[in-house]
Amino acid sequence: MNRTLTDKFGRVHDYLRISLTDRCNLRCVYCMPEEGMQFMENDKHLTFDEIEAVVRMAAKLGVRRLRLTGGEPLVRPNVEKLVSRLSAIPGIEDIALTTNGIFLAQKAEKLRKAGVTRVNISLDSMKQERFAKITRGGDVSKVLAGLEASFRVGFNPIKLNVVLMNRFNDDEVDDFLRMTLEREVHVRFIEYMPIGHDDNGWRDLYLPLEYVKERCEAMGMTPEPTQSVFGNGPAEYFRLPGAKGSFGLIHPVSDHFCESCNRLRLTADGNIKPCLFWQDEFNVRKYIGDEQALEDLFFRALDIKPESHEMAKVLFGEELSHEPTVRRMSQIGG
Ligand code: GTP
Ligand code: 5AD
Ligand code: SF4
Repeated sequence: MNRTLTDKFGRVHDYLRISLTDRCNLRCVYCMPEEGMQFMENDKHLTFDEIEAVVRMAAKLGVRRLRLTGGEPLVRPNVEKLVSRLSAIPGIEDIALTTNGIFLAQKAEKLRKAGVTRVNISLDSMKQERFAKITRGGDVSKVLAGLEASFRVGFNPIKLNVVLMNRFNDDEVDDFLRMTLEREVHVRFIEYMPIGHDDNGWRDLYLPLEYVKERCEAMGMTPEPTQSVFGNGPAEYFRLPGAKGSFGLIHPVSDHFCESCNRLRLTADGNIKPCLFWQDEFNVRKYIGDEQALEDLFFRALDIKPESHEMAKVLFGEELSHEPTVRRMSQIGG
């Protein structure tokens, strides 16, 4: 009988977030510096064979759910071929994708056929000028076309990720809330996280999600909590009266959800990352082909997984207990 991925705080890990590349066709302000990044060399990326080997091992240890992330996962050629291979692995029950949506209209059908069941699409603004400012040049109509293609091919649920930024897109909360009245879409407002940032611009843009509840009140609507949206955990969901969709709140900074953490991450260069926030990582590459060694590496990573991140300390300028990650968000995949 295999061991399960339970850490010393009793948290069971059945969810693996796999970053397929650090490359992206956008450069969102909260994710990459203006000048862009030095992307990793092609030969540093885990191959599809290597990813499959890691997932086979993880599935034996109880991982049931996968999420493909980036950078932007759809810039990696032939993603759908990887999806087919992963969906054939015994034990894997759910394969989801987090994408910026730019290539989604082109790829939705192939992805759905290969075994992606659901998508989370980043969309921080529905106004072209502002969207271009946030993403440094993106075309929002492509993302909206990706959203429509997602409905057409039957991804379910379909979620939108909106990173809320003070005096940047906070005036669009009402529009996003209204969208949930009309469409079966789940809009998640996300607190802007200080990941891999070496500047303090973050503090000025950070806006606690209490603001979304205030907007519901201002719109004269009382949201009801709902448990009905399938997912891996970080969001609390609410429904406005009569709404077809829902909205979710992901508030890692103001009220973290680490006590229910169920996830490990695999970076595109093959590092198991026990926590988004901290620096500790364990490279899988040399252990692939040696099942016992790979299994042991998973447990080593789990063993040092801390009880929680310390983003609130960053907010208040307090000293951290150890080294935070130096990776930018695009090099982790969220
Ligand atoms: P569902 O399976 O649909 O619940 O997906 P998800 O919310 O786990 O995935 P997604 O990639 O859409 O992430 C949404 C937001 O949650 C992003 O901003 C992520 O960075 C953030 N997030 C995901 N996992 C964690 C986590 O373990 N800790 C923190 N602090 N943030 C996380
Ligand atoms: N804070 C919060 N969310 C972020 N994302 C990227 N960077 C940040 C950040 N600093 C989100 C993206 C995407 C998901 C993978 O993570 O919007 O939806
Ligand atoms: Fe690209 Fe996503 Fe980062 Fe934006 S958040 S730059 S879309 S990886």
